[in-house]
Amino acid sequence: MAQLHEVQKLETIGQLTGGVAHDFNNLLTPITGALDLLQHKYAEQDARTARLITNALLAADRAKTLVQRLLGFARRQTLQTVAVDLGELLTGMRDLIASSIGPTIELRVRFAPDLPPASVDPNQLELAVLNLCVNARDAMPAGGPLTITAQEVTISPGLEPKLPLGLYVRLSVIDAGTGMDATTLARAVEPFYSTKEIGRGTGLGLSMVHGLAAQLGGSFVLSSQLGQGTRADLYLPIATGPGNAKTLDRVSPRAPSGRPLSIMLVDDEDVVRFGTAEMIRDLGHRVIEARGGAEALTLLADNPDIDVVVSDYKMPRMDGAEFARRLHATRPQLPVLIVTGYTGPTDEVLHLPRLAKPFGQAEVAAALAALVNGHQNVVSLRR
Ligand SMILES: Nc1ncnc2c1ncn2[C@@H]1O[C@H](COP(=O)(O)OP(=O)(O)O)[C@@H](O)[C@H]1O
Ligand SMILES: [Mg+2]
Repeated sequence: MAQLHEVQKLETIGQLTGGVAHDFNNLLTPITGALDLLQHKYAEQDARTARLITNALLAADRAKTLVQRLLGFARRQTLQTVAVDLGELLTGMRDLIASSIGPTIELRVRFAPDLPPASVDPNQLELAVLNLCVNARDAMPAGGPLTITAQEVTISPGLEPKLPLGLYVRLSVIDAGTGMDATTLARAVEPFYSTKEIGRGTGLGLSMVHGLAAQLGGSFVLSSQLGQGTRADLYLPIATGPGNAKTLDRVSPRAPSGRPLSIMLVDDEDVVRFGTAEMIRDLGHRVIEARGGAEALTLLADNPDIDVVVSDYKMPRMDGAEFARRLHATRPQLPVLIVTGYTGPTDEVLHLPRLAKPFGQAEVAAALAALVNGHQNVVSLRR
């Protein structure tokens, strides 16, 4: 009963955080976008202004990381799930972990050579493992052993954690540190729960790990007793097929030259749409704005020369997936770029290229270039 209550509480906190994080993420897009434009404009003209803008961009970047972690907890981040050899992943991380935990802690990494591949987002999983190792370090101020293991396990009826029965890969991070009392253990996964002094703990480490495991279709189990050390188990699903990474995430280079495009931009939120439109116009393209799918479809009928459609995913009445479907019913060749940030889009739009929020000008440029280059007849961008 108490456990059920905990699960429901986490679920509720997840919904709240997810909602707030989503709004924040949306607002960050015009902020980073505007700063990006200003930076290009003033970088060489005025050193003081350039410094101020760089500072603001750095702050926006930190805000972005924070929002990403909150979305991670709320299981609403865009994951790039592929088949990953955990032994390889852990071996590759060894130096990074060793330098994060320091010389007083002895690192042991053990995994079976024939471990089946896990279905995970490798970047996010590395972050999760690192979070767990940093917690272990903090719990062993006088040093001690830190053991990381990966093994295949079977979830059978009646066994914890409650997951669909079958085979999983279990990644465990085990320390011999201070451990946790029952109250701390019960609250450890809550976002912003931390027993560390201000400035040392964010309280977001374990919430991220928990959210990631759940979103991957696995589970996160924390066991600990005061004075007995802590064991963190990540149950991860085994990969059945090849990976299916298709998200256009943070890509940086500026797009190569080409002719200006006519772009239809669809977003229900005025500030966000305005910011994105400015970024795209600054790249030399023509932008026609629409406040929703219905308006876009009407405008498209009058503008047959549109080369590309950029659409938000989460919109009232008609979401990005539905809009793309209706659009492709009449214009099957028109490339569509879906801007995401909230719930990962359903399978229906998986085949469409995506751009994760928040993004800067370089990311839009690269996404547009990828979109039109993958598409014959259209040349890419101007600069
Ligand atoms: N390995 C561990 N040993 C002892 N306590 C831990 C361990 N991992 C987490 N905790 C407890 O759980 C709390 C929350 O952890 P976390 O979400 O990573 O946030 P933070 O590390 O920023 O405090 C910690 O403040 C600590 O009290
Ligand atoms: Mg932590």
